[in-house]
Amino acid sequence: MARIAVVGSINMDLVTTTGRRPEPGETVLGRGFDMVPGGKGSNQAIAARRAGAEVDFVGAVGDDLFAAELRKVLDGAGVGTRRLRTAAGPSGVATIVVDSAGENTIIVVEGANATLTDLTADDLAAVAAADILLCQLEIPLPTVLAAARHARASGTTVLLNPSPAQDLSPEFWSVVDIAVVNEGESERLAASLDTVPHVVVTRGANGAVYRGPDGEIAHPGVRVEVVDTTGAGDTFTGALAAHWHRGPATALAWACTAGALATTKLGASASIPSRADIEAALER
Ligand code: RIB
Repeated sequence: MARIAVVGSINMDLVTTTGRRPEPGETVLGRGFDMVPGGKGSNQAIAARRAGAEVDFVGAVGDDLFAAELRKVLDGAGVGTRRLRTAAGPSGVATIVVDSAGENTIIVVEGANATLTDLTADDLAAVAAADILLCQLEIPLPTVLAAARHARASGTTVLLNPSPAQDLSPEFWSVVDIAVVNEGESERLAASLDTVPHVVVTRGANGAVYRGPDGEIAHPGVRVEVVDTTGAGDTFTGALAAHWHRGPATALAWACTAGALATTKLGASASIPSRADIEAALER
């Protein structure tokens, strides 16, 4: 079983479903509203755990009404929350609009995620003890870099999902072992990704492609009825991390299958499939 440390974000997702998104200045009637725990860090932690890994989460919630619910979703999934701090002020929130095609737009207000400016000796110990450090860009960049540097120094593989997209220094890229990007990001970041040993490009309904020392491996899309794509990339990334030790072809199969299943239900954390569901779909 892989051991994974996630240093990342956790948000409450405020999800509105609508037939179509409004144009600027327009009001449309929505179809429904839900509050679902999310955040790229938390989603990826839960996805890795459900796909079969042991996971520790380093992050921060606020001291507001959302905090208990956010902590509960990680605890319920069996993710280690000993390093989840409570900061004064609001938790991170994401305002998400999902249209009838299942496509979304997301605005994240970082809240407590912005307070994750220091890593304790205990946080760093979790990174050093892990097989993989899994990180994204929804917490302060210096913290992500500090975690990645420590991972590199400790022999822990660094898997970065550079989302939301931001400019990163060459030094930052130099400590990344695996990058998971979508097609748009892979074009924008082409020069930087050339320096990363393993690159996985997600292609939505068309699956994903791996390139690295093992050559190029493509995995086709898995056909599903799409309800909501929110968190599908996070589910892909968590499952990929959980099965990375089995080689890129197997990891890609798990990631594509888990990511596709995640689009069949509404809400980020609510849609992440169990190991049994992924295995059943892999056998079909
Ligand atoms: O990747 C999906 C996630 O992005 C949502 O859960 C939202 O919280 C934002 O972080």
